[in-house]
Amino acid sequence: MNVSDALKTRRSIRGYKPDPVAPELLEKIFDQARLAPSNCNTQPWHTVVVSGQARKDLQAAIFEEIMSGKTPSPVFTPGDSGLSGVYKERQYQCAFTYYGVMGIERHEKEKRQQLALKNWEFFDAPHVAFISMPASMGPINAIDIGLYLQTLMLLLVENGLASCPQGALAFYPDPVFKIANIPEGNAIVCGISFGYEDVGARINDVIMDRDPLTDLVQFID
Ligand SMILES: Cc1cc2nc3c(=O)[nH]c(=O)nc-3n(C[C@H](O)[C@H](O)[C@H](O)COP(=O)(O)O)c2cc1C
Repeated sequence: MNVSDALKTRRSIRGYKPDPVAPELLEKIFDQARLAPSNCNTQPWHTVVVSGQARKDLQAAIFEEIMSGKTPSPVFTPGDSGLSGVYKERQYQCAFTYYGVMGIERHEKEKRQQLALKNWEFFDAPHVAFISMPASMGPINAIDIGLYLQTLMLLLVENGLASCPQGALAFYPDPVFKIANIPEGNAIVCGISFGYEDVGARINDVIMDRDPLTDLVQFID
């Protein structure tokens, strides 16, 4: 598979088979992802991969927080806050596409909330990773995390795996910090659920389009 094929194949997948990924394959993929570039080679990413019983326990602990009514406490400002103009429109279109595939209408608030909760079920994926960087770092360093994330997602595709990057996984950090040795001073930027795609799952019919090249890139001679 070449890079163009991997790019075209990758989509955010939200329905998984329960089958775990072989530990050797996991190690190979995360070893290769280290090759992502970063500002001054600072490599600000730190990753915790949670699987098996630990993953089940973590889901339960996060749900306990959610059900107790705890307010989400992400350290970094979530990507969907304060959007306006074209960005708000694209966010709306994204939600419209997603709920549309799932047969949920705009006024069906409870169904939308139920679907949103799937984020913290890790979309039933057998593995979830949490990516953190020093909380003192800013948006330029967050570029490095983005590059690392895309590198990881393409490697997963190359190895027949699917994933869903999730800003939502930064919302309830305490249970993650309780089980993982995350470097002191770090904060979670995002998480990523991954595993083998459940190809028949309706939720995976979601296809997000992109704006045309002419709206996004200017070529000047
Ligand atoms: C940094 C980042 C955070 C995201 N957070 C979430 C999330 O919390 N939940 C979710 O279902 N999808 C999340 N997504 C997936 C986006 O909705 C998805 O990438 C976008 O709609 C484009 O669709 P595609 O990935 O299928 O091409 C996130 C994507 C990125 C890059």
